[in-house]
Amino acid sequence: MIYQGVLNRYGSLLDLPAHTTPVTLLEGNTPLIPMPRLAEELGGGFELYVKYEGLNPTGSFKDRGMTAAISEAAGRGAKAVICASTGNTAASAAAYATRAGMRCVVIIPRGKVAAGKLAGAIAYGARVIQIDGSFDDALNLVVEVSNKHPIALVNSLNPYRLEGQKSGAFEICDVLGSAPDWFCLPVGNAGNITSYWMGFRQYNALKQSGLPQILGVQAEGSAPLVLGHPVDHPETVATAIRIGRPARGEQALEAAEQSNGRIIAVSDEAILAMQKRLAANGVWVEPASAAGLAGMRHDLEAGKIDLKGKRVVVVCTGHGMKDPDIVAKQMEAPTVLPARLADIEEAVVGAK
Ligand code: F0G
Repeated sequence: MIYQGVLNRYGSLLDLPAHTTPVTLLEGNTPLIPMPRLAEELGGGFELYVKYEGLNPTGSFKDRGMTAAISEAAGRGAKAVICASTGNTAASAAAYATRAGMRCVVIIPRGKVAAGKLAGAIAYGARVIQIDGSFDDALNLVVEVSNKHPIALVNSLNPYRLEGQKSGAFEICDVLGSAPDWFCLPVGNAGNITSYWMGFRQYNALKQSGLPQILGVQAEGSAPLVLGHPVDHPETVATAIRIGRPARGEQALEAAEQSNGRIIAVSDEAILAMQKRLAANGVWVEPASAAGLAGMRHDLEAGKIDLKGKRVVVVCTGHGMKDPDIVAKQMEAPTVLPARLADIEEAVVGAK
């Protein structure tokens, strides 16, 4: 069977209006990569898989929900879409909008969007507006603009984003044959955790695939769901999840509670350490994407979670190429040498 994208594969399970007209880049169908060595490094005794969402067409998980939101908007004749973004939603909205022949406007926090994301939004032809404010300010603004003008909002407040995003849960269950025992992911605006929980529950009702316990992970400096109150000036190196007022915060807390899981916060150091560790195992992700596994490691080391004999799936939400600057800042710079054999030999094998 030729793969034709999320709506084609799982459309019958997604609650989308009849006017929906598919706009796709063949998103989804991302690999569920076994990570046996990393599991050993973390103590062993459990199965670990990474759902590598950075391999979607625009390099992040956002494409699953975006195909649904843009397909719905296109089907009712929308001419323009708008979103607030920490970067990945912007690039995804821009790609699907241009595919549908629609205009796209994105509003982003100035200086806080990783280079690969900003470049993507511009390359796909979006009108990019930077504000002196946070993601939360940007989200308030786009909600007001979309309420006043005929321009479709494609943030995860748009219910069709959640519908498309459920496909991630369906794929995991289809590949494993059932839901994992634990499911970990980073939490920012909280659309993803909400959708996965919807998806796992729907599949369980339909196919008795079981339900995972969910571990949602925020960055310490941007952890409103852990603190129990909004954060006015969120900060973290994981700019994708630098969010102080998550739009789907209530639902995220419900997902954690109903699944008998939890939402925790980890430090920027722990996030960057896990980014390196994942890369050392062949999976290079952007910082926010390492937060889920950093959280699991934290709870393992604190003795708060027992994974013996368990199956764990961690979502890595965005590709490492989204944020090249972080590598330049955190990792060793390449050596510069003259183009001379003797120098190269010395550097490579230590001989002159
Ligand atoms: N990981 C990455 C790489 C993200 O870009 C985001 C969110 C998240 C995790 C968190 O997902 O918001 O559904 O809880 N990025 C949004 C954006 C906010 O604008 O690209 P969430």
